[in-house]
Amino acid sequence: MTAGSANLKILVTGANGQLGAELVHLSADGYTIQGYGRDALDITDLGQCRQVMAQFSPDAVIHCAAYTAVDKAESERDEAFRVNAAGTRNLAIVSREVGAKLCYISTDYVFDGTSEIPYNEIDRTNPQTVYGKSKLAGEQAVTSLHDRYFIVRTSWVYGKYGQNFVKTMLKLGREKDELKVVHDQIGSPTYTLDLALFLLELVRTECYGIYHASNTGVCSWYEFAVAIFEESGIAIKLEPCATSDFPRPAPRPAFSVMDHSSIRVNGLTDLRPWREALNHYLEDDQ
Ligand SMILES: NC(=O)c1ccc[n+]([C@@H]2O[C@H](COP(=O)([O-])OP(=O)(O)OC[C@H]3O[C@@H](n4cnc5c(N)ncnc54)[C@H](OP(=O)(O)O)[C@@H]3O)[C@@H](O)[C@H]2O)c1
Repeated sequence: MTAGSANLKILVTGANGQLGAELVHLSADGYTIQGYGRDALDITDLGQCRQVMAQFSPDAVIHCAAYTAVDKAESERDEAFRVNAAGTRNLAIVSREVGAKLCYISTDYVFDGTSEIPYNEIDRTNPQTVYGKSKLAGEQAVTSLHDRYFIVRTSWVYGKYGQNFVKTMLKLGREKDELKVVHDQIGSPTYTLDLALFLLELVRTECYGIYHASNTGVCSWYEFAVAIFEESGIAIKLEPCATSDFPRPAPRPAFSVMDHSSIRVNGLTDLRPWREALNHYLEDDQ
């Protein structure tokens, strides 16, 4: 099925994750969205991928399943690659076999975070973590095994389903009087609802290629936390701190701001500013 208003059958992998669950709970005219959690579709099982795809026969696959434990990946390299690289390869093979477009969700972690200007879709990748390398290997599987693909790199994802930074802040805000939050990592938060709506618009098109999609505007985690507490009326003393105050197994990119050039060039609808999205989430989803 191509562009136009015809009904589009979409298969969502990782349907119990933050983004996957958002997609399967959307009721959007013109789309039949069927989600599969790991129990129904383990993407590392090529045979199961073939069976499920043959059964549902989607027009497009939105591939949200991933190994996302960034720190754990440093000591579980094979598992991260098994899911993010080999699993994505399986979906690329089978999507092509059944004639479905493939939309692979990727990450700002494919960049090294040393830039001082927003990363463009064509900028050189240079992942610094096992997670980032495994997601880039997934991108490479998609580009080499499929031709009708979208790779959508996103960042700092939060929403109604699953655990995320906003929920953690709200919980800590209820438990503590003061909190330190890192101020030297800059990026763009992404509300799953906005990303999901963008993905539905995207997969209807033939504008294949690599996209950067996050809510627009930039902030540090500290500034994001300030906004979360201001908008939800929680009084707490926040102190900015450095990444080095909280050493983690996987290094975090200092700068993960991404330019949305592909969205503009292809005349698609960019996501709204991050603070507007945060307000919507806090009003509607809490
Ligand atoms: N979260 C972020 O801040 C962020 C930032 C940039 C990019 N992304 C990308 O955005 C996409 C969606 O992220 P998310 O936040 O929704 O992740 P998530 O909440 O961690 O969900 C990922 C889902 O994938 C499932 N999964 C893991 N291994 C699987 C397998 N072998 N077969 C099938 N399903 C499997 C997980 O199931 P289990 O629960 O059973 O493990 C989980 O439900 C991912 O591609 C991620 O790399 C996320």
